[in-house]
Amino acid sequence: MNKMKGIILAGGTATRLFPLTATTSKQLLPVYNRQMIFYPLNVLIKAGIKDILMIVSPEHSGQFLNLLGRIFERHDVRLEFKVQSVPRGLADAFILGENFIDNDNVTMILGDNIFEDDFSRIIRNFRSGGQIFAKKVPDPERYGVVKFDESGKAVQIVEKPQEWISDYAIPGLYIYDNRVCRAARNAQRSERGEIEITTLHNYYLEKGVLQVSTFEGEWLDAGTFDTLLEAGRIVKEKEIYKNFDPQIEKAIEEFNAELKTIAKKQLL
Ligand code: TTP
Repeated sequence: MNKMKGIILAGGTATRLFPLTATTSKQLLPVYNRQMIFYPLNVLIKAGIKDILMIVSPEHSGQFLNLLGRIFERHDVRLEFKVQSVPRGLADAFILGENFIDNDNVTMILGDNIFEDDFSRIIRNFRSGGQIFAKKVPDPERYGVVKFDESGKAVQIVEKPQEWISDYAIPGLYIYDNRVCRAARNAQRSERGEIEITTLHNYYLEKGVLQVSTFEGEWLDAGTFDTLLEAGRIVKEKEIYKNFDPQIEKAIEEFNAELKTIAKKQLL
């Protein structure tokens, strides 16, 4: 049986959060009581994934290392880092991550996506093909969008459709088998010059092996001032920060305790 590996895509330019992102990465900004990156990291760790590749931008790679480089030292999780020199699109994760993925399956999550639901069972039960998710939104034209037929089967997927096809947006959590690396390498660049994740969804849709599951819980994409503020509020209100896997919670606590000790010593 193929193993499941994890990728967190945490690069990008984060222009919408400038000037906050002039000094740090979007994914290191706080969402209520912890750095944003811990939320997607928790999704992977909760699902039992032990090998995780963190893709970061060159400007902020040092900050990611400072926060996460040693955090799982005493835990059974291996974190690797890779720099994405230019933001070439979401599907670039599978080109940069090809050697890391090797012959295994992969779950990729965006570093600024926060979910209320627990996707562990679906990730653990995944065997082959593709598995993505869909959630009803009021502004589907901002996202990759999926259209279902009357029987609930996904029939069409379009990136930022200019004409309405459906209210179901595709959030930043994608599970694929090993074929994704070759599909990403062969993907044509879009008009905006990116390798689009939608191209990969369509690759699996055309083969008839794409599962699209809808869900009801919160999906927060903390990419603007308003959604960042809203994310913190909802995480607090719905106590999403309490849904953490004990392993990652412990790792964060240990790391924070260490930071406090260092800070105290510097004061003496
Ligand atoms: P976006 O929010 O689409 O892009 P961005 O983060 O650069 O922000 P902005 O639109 O404000 O300029 O990206 C979604 C997530 O994917 C985010 O966590 C950044 C990451 N990303 C990469 O790591 N590399 C990429 O090439 C792209 C396009 C995004």
